[in-house]
Amino acid sequence: MNEKDHYPHFEATLETECLWLRPFQESDDAELFRCCQNPHLGDNAGWKPHETLEESRTVLHDFFMKQEDTWAIVLKSTNLLIGSIGLIADPKRENAQARMLGYWLDEAYWGKGLMNEAAKSVLNYGLETLKLSLITAHCYPNNQRSKALLRRNNFLYEGTLHEAEICYNGQILDHDCYYLKF
Ligand SMILES: CC(C)(COP(=O)(O)OP(=O)(O)OC[C@H]1O[C@@H](n2cnc3c(N)ncnc32)[C@H](O)[C@@H]1OP(=O)(O)O)[C@@H](O)C(=O)NCCC(=O)NCCS
Repeated sequence: MNEKDHYPHFEATLETECLWLRPFQESDDAELFRCCQNPHLGDNAGWKPHETLEESRTVLHDFFMKQEDTWAIVLKSTNLLIGSIGLIADPKRENAQARMLGYWLDEAYWGKGLMNEAAKSVLNYGLETLKLSLITAHCYPNNQRSKALLRRNNFLYEGTLHEAEICYNGQILDHDCYYLKF
């Protein structure tokens, strides 16, 4: 199948100082598996860490390559896939003008300001290209890194949705909800 069949309306590639943000492609499977085995990613972002390459391939096809406005984060200096960021429908809101920001980064690259760089570019895309009026983000209460990123990008805390989710491991978790109003 032609790769474009997966995301016919989404071809946007964004460039920042250190990163390419581009649509996912078939050949990202092994890199996705390398990153997503780490429980520190999935356990903070709300998905089960990947156990097999086949599982990563399924997620790649069924989610990352089907989803519009979801980018692979590629480090320019090495051309390696190091994360993902996207503006997807917010399951808590019935409003097409509002999207939810989701993101994860390979742990080896935390603490360098790279997600901050990606987020600024994607938030600008949400405002300028998608003409959104609101962007939301939801974090587990103990996800300090994610909350720091949101505060750095002017998101405001709007409240905690208690017992918002039963995780893959049976844990029941609250969502701390943030929003950015344009
Ligand atoms: C959330 C996540 C992406 C944050 O990554 P991060 O690297 O901490 O985020 P940033 O890109 O904003 O980097 C901030 C850090 O880089 C440092 N930094 C260096 N240069 C910087 C720059 N130019 N600008 C901003 N920060 C910079 C900051 O001081 C900060 O360091 P600290 O961690 O020592 O305080 C990452 O922890 C992650 O992938 N977690 C697992 C998945 C997840 O939780 N997803 C979100 C679900 S809601």
